[in-house]
Amino acid sequence: MKPYVTYKQLNPLDKPEEQLPPEQGTLPAHKRARWAVLATVLAAMLLAALFTYPLVFLAGSTPSRQDRVRQAPGDACTDPCRITLVESIPEGLTYGSAVPSHPSTFQTWLELIGGAQSSLDIASFYWTLTNADTHTREPSAQQGEQILAELTQLPQRGVAVRVAVSTPKAKQPLDDLEALERSGAAVRKVDLPRLTKGVLHTKFWVVDGAHIYLGSANMDWRSLTQVKELGAAVYNCSCLARDLGKVFEAYWALGVPDATIPEPWPDSYSTIYNVETPLQLQLNGTPASVYLSSSPPALCARGRTEDLRALLTVIDTATDFVHIAVMSYLPTMEFSRPKRFWPAIDNHLRRAAYERGVSVRLLVSCWSHSKPPMFPFLKSLAALQDNRTRYSVEVHAVPLGGPGVGAGVTAGPLVGTSNWSGDYFVQTAGSALVLDETGAGATVGAQLQAVFQRDWDSPYSTDLGSLARWESLCQTH
Ligand SMILES: *[C@@H]1O[C@H](CO)[C@@H](O)[C@H](O)[C@H]1NC(C)=O
Ligand SMILES: *[C@@H]1O[C@H](CO)[C@@H](O)[C@H](O)[C@H]1NC(C)=O
Ligand SMILES: *[C@@H]1O[C@H](CO)[C@@H](O)[C@H](O)[C@H]1NC(C)=O
Repeated sequence: MKPYVTYKQLNPLDKPEEQLPPEQGTLPAHKRARWAVLATVLAAMLLAALFTYPLVFLAGSTPSRQDRVRQAPGDACTDPCRITLVESIPEGLTYGSAVPSHPSTFQTWLELIGGAQSSLDIASFYWTLTNADTHTREPSAQQGEQILAELTQLPQRGVAVRVAVSTPKAKQPLDDLEALERSGAAVRKVDLPRLTKGVLHTKFWVVDGAHIYLGSANMDWRSLTQVKELGAAVYNCSCLARDLGKVFEAYWALGVPDATIPEPWPDSYSTIYNVETPLQLQLNGTPASVYLSSSPPALCARGRTEDLRALLTVIDTATDFVHIAVMSYLPTMEFSRPKRFWPAIDNHLRRAAYERGVSVRLLVSCWSHSKPPMFPFLKSLAALQDNRTRYSVEVHAVPLGGPGVGAGVTAGPLVGTSNWSGDYFVQTAGSALVLDETGAGATVGAQLQAVFQRDWDSPYSTDLGSLARWESLCQTH
């Protein structure tokens, strides 16, 4: 493993001004669905986020169909949707044998590019796909360089390429974006710092209005070979791809100079698919319901479920366990001054453990730049578990910088793009795929759970609750 501390760190969330989160309303307690949430926390770090893999996965129990919301006639999705989990496993990270493995992010992107016929839209945080961008000479940058080269071939093949990117900071490289523009791709810089005091942190692709990738991987060569990433690809699923396309169109609209956030968003951005009325479809041949959530609230058009609400709903409907893998976890507004406590997620986890006996597991990443308050807050969560209570709350940490494992959440698959602190839900643009499998052939939830278990059981994962001193594990100052 190379010491990634040599790379420049860019913190995308430079001290946004304080902003209090909206109070969460009562969440529907009516759903008894089996959820797996996979919240891919993307790692904004150009740097050492070796193991950023943020994923949430929590699972409840058996669904009762009576609560399922009907779809308006004519809305039935007849696409033969196929979903697969996609992972980047860093070079040098080894698991034992017989562990789950999934297609790589690199292979998935290559195939999406290769199959593109008419359009490719990419929502992205930043672009550093080459050694030149990072001032490195790493052989493993080759995969990123190949992706960039293939992308720049698309326009001449007649594929319309659009890239929405968070407005680059002064020192961020622009070469990849310029190469894309020279190739005929359209690039728009979305100034979320001005618009919401956040960043465009979302990472997803929409290909030919039919296939999508959504996950934690940035357009960064390190996201292919050096950072642990998790995402999902859904193929032949125009119902879902069109809905994600609406989120992309919102970014695209905000990418013109002096754009303002429409209020309300025009109807063309609205969706009928949300936590109340998810899209009913066939996923890998099995009935499932799916919706896409988005953040921050200001970017949610009518009908769109906010990321936080999606997440809390998954936690609230879990009846057996909530497994969370996430890069950082703080019940605060991490970047705001004055300091603000933000216990929305923390409260729901404690409630799940206390009121419903749900087993909660958090797998977080830590490194030298982890915010010190993260640890006492996590230990306080883990302290719920005691020999004389029946509550089950466990927290494991994986240090970055050695071959490690990041994070994730488990509860019915939700694939998203946020760290778990207030800023990510209130100011930063992210999105999540929330999945509720209902049929007997349900597989994605089980796959997510297997990924979580693999990482939880790996030698890189250490019980934080029982650790007297976390500083040496995480090398935090
Ligand atoms: C997520 O948290 C990690 C650890 O605190 C941080 O380094 C990273 O920059 C965060 N991601 C984003 C997008 O800010
Ligand atoms: C989409 O469906 C078609 C027809 O069933 C199939 O040939 C093709 O391989 C599918 N595409 C992907 C990416 O799975
Ligand atoms: C809890 O019980 C286990 C097994 O009986 C024991 O080994 C452990 O020391 C106990 N922990 C505390 C804090 O009492």
